[in-house]
Amino acid sequence: MQKHKIGVIGGGLMGHGIAYLLAAAGHDVGVFEPNTEIRASLPRRLAAILDLLGDDAALLKRIAAHEQLAPAVQGAGFVFEAAPEKLPLKQKIFAELESAVAAETILASNSSAIPTTEIGRDLKHRERVIGTHFWNPPHLVPLVEVIQNEKTSEVAMRDTMDLLRDAGKTPVHVRRDVPGFVGNRLQHAMKREAFALVAAGVCDAETVDTVVKEGFGARTAVLGPMEQSDLVGLDLALDIADVLYEHLDRTASAPAILRDKVKAGKLGMKTGEGLRKWAPGEADAVRARLSRFLAEQAKARKKSKT
Ligand SMILES: NC(=O)c1ccc[n+]([C@@H]2O[C@H](COP(=O)([O-])OP(=O)(O)OC[C@H]3O[C@@H](n4cnc5c(N)ncnc54)[C@H](O)[C@@H]3O)[C@@H](O)[C@H]2O)c1
Repeated sequence: MQKHKIGVIGGGLMGHGIAYLLAAAGHDVGVFEPNTEIRASLPRRLAAILDLLGDDAALLKRIAAHEQLAPAVQGAGFVFEAAPEKLPLKQKIFAELESAVAAETILASNSSAIPTTEIGRDLKHRERVIGTHFWNPPHLVPLVEVIQNEKTSEVAMRDTMDLLRDAGKTPVHVRRDVPGFVGNRLQHAMKREAFALVAAGVCDAETVDTVVKEGFGARTAVLGPMEQSDLVGLDLALDIADVLYEHLDRTASAPAILRDKVKAGKLGMKTGEGLRKWAPGEADAVRARLSRFLAEQAKARKKSKT
């Protein structure tokens, strides 16, 4: 595939991982990060990914950090925006981008929830505005939801999907700019039920996690819910839906259990207690376990492709 100059806006949690994976695919990447400290920490954070994945250090030379937007995106074929999740800020960035890049440069937002229809509302060339929802950490989780809004052209869709596929990601085409796209809708539908079960005293939070990880989660990476329905048979899926669905939680707002915990300052691992208590060291062990698992999966995927 053709190698591009690619701009990344924001060198935070998501931006540095996106920059890494695009440089690893052979592209030259300019990262615009206005915060001096965060910009200065970029080489250390990129080197940590390199260590984790055991890649060739030469790829880091393809990433340049910039304190201004225009030089970071100069000559770019694609720009991936990973700035804070605030609509006015993203609109301002996209307006600046429009005057800094060519009319055909694809402008992608990594927004988790803000529709790109809104982000690109005032641009002249809206057909190249697209959603690319990476999952954290973007250099390890394969999926990218590529969201087509009502103005996004088929060419922009195709070129973005091709670029991401070539970079080793698994892009999927989301045909409408709906809140939560596909992945977060599925994830939060499950969480709503999990909160309801714990609030009703059916089981504790730890049990929910065990049921998911040791139950259907053990097969989810190789068998999606649609495949699973076809596997067991849609007649059985219908019988279960007929009995069960009326009992599932349908609360149309955030649950009280979540609101009460936040009000009490029980925010999870960062405060030592959330849905369960976290002793010192336990949270670090969870993070290390996750990082190790995702890195092993990423390495295995890369090996199977070579
Ligand atoms: N964290 C996640 O799990 C996750 C997952 C998917 C999508 N996202 C989305 O990705 C985007 C970035 O999230 P993050 O978690 O990387 O946040 P972050 O706070 O780690 O990074 C944002 C970076 O943008 C920089 N920034 C601030 N103002 C800027 C400006 N005007 N121009 C350019 N950069 C600016 C900040 O200094 C910071 O380094 C958000 O839209 C978020 O919703 C996050």
